[in-house]
Amino acid sequence: MKALITAGGKGTRLRPLTHTQNKHLLPICNKPTLHYALEKVAEVGIREVGIITNQEGIEVQEAIGTGDHWGVHITYIPQDAPLGLAHVVRISQDFIGGDKFVFYLGDNMIVGGISRFIDEFEKQGSNCHLTLSRVKDPERFGVPEIQGDRIVSIEEKPDKPKSAYAVAGIYLYDNSIFEAVNAIKPSARGELEISDAHQYLIDQGKKVTFSEITGWWKDTGKPEDILEANRLLLEHTEAKVNGLIDNQSLVTGNVVVEEGAQIINSVVRGPAIIGRGTVLENSYIGPFTSIGDNCRIRNSEVEFSIVLNQCTILDVGVRIENSLLGVASRVVRADSRPRSNRFMTGDQSLIEIC
Ligand code: TTP
Repeated sequence: MKALITAGGKGTRLRPLTHTQNKHLLPICNKPTLHYALEKVAEVGIREVGIITNQEGIEVQEAIGTGDHWGVHITYIPQDAPLGLAHVVRISQDFIGGDKFVFYLGDNMIVGGISRFIDEFEKQGSNCHLTLSRVKDPERFGVPEIQGDRIVSIEEKPDKPKSAYAVAGIYLYDNSIFEAVNAIKPSARGELEISDAHQYLIDQGKKVTFSEITGWWKDTGKPEDILEANRLLLEHTEAKVNGLIDNQSLVTGNVVVEEGAQIINSVVRGPAIIGRGTVLENSYIGPFTSIGDNCRIRNSEVEFSIVLNQCTILDVGVRIENSLLGVASRVVRADSRPRSNRFMTGDQSLIEIC
């Protein structure tokens, strides 16, 4: 069995962060999102992994490398343009050859492994095995209609969902998926839709089965999803202190303090992670916060947020909450007169002032 992982797409919903960084490299719990997908496929013994990248993007290749770190061999497959998930499968046919494969969206996060899904796929002798997650708002997703152990139809973003499930971003296929992705036509938004390929398989009488994801599943396409995935992962993190905590500081709950980090006269309430070489001084870090490497935080408060590497937060008089700060962002108090707020923001930035 092989694996195909996506790391292309546009990432428009995560701008401005994705103006300068591929969204699959954005860290959740201080680890690039794509690492989680790689860990899941390596864990079940898959050794041949294809990663779809944007045509122009060598950053994924540079960050992930050959796959040695996970004991896998990675083939990078550039996609000319983000023409849809079925297009991704279409251009990967040479790489997959005659094998069965896991198609894993690189921005999807699940708790637990994927071996259960593979076992079901094999046991049921399915042509296509989908993972489903019960959601509050199925109308935002591809929604299956279920009869017994089969999926009998799939509708993309339906007005009247036929079940309470969303099709999640982990799919298992045999070779019949290639007939489907080669047969379908682009949708109204100009993409080759994976839901259309699944519907094609159903129409051709192929066996399309499913497993329910019983733990949590997150598609980290939007900032609030990334913060929520960060929260969920931090909940499962164990405390580990490799850095320095001085006697004036109070660190409670599960907190990871990486090597070279310094916590000086500060309060950190876990779960939280403080990256390598980061210095906190006279500050408060609240639950569900990931602070990256080499940040400097002084006289400030941060909670339920992700702060990427090399950020500076100094003397900020209000608590920073529910926020995502890109690499080397600076949030500082201005002492100059006249007193005013000054913004130097990238395109499509968001600033909320209270
Ligand atoms: P999406 O999150 O649906 O699309 P996107 O990444 O373009 O983001 P946005 O809607 O914010 O612009 O994509 C799901 C996954 O599939 C994600 O890992 C990106 C990847 N992808 C590709 O690799 N190629 C594609 O053509 C598309 C549409 C997505």
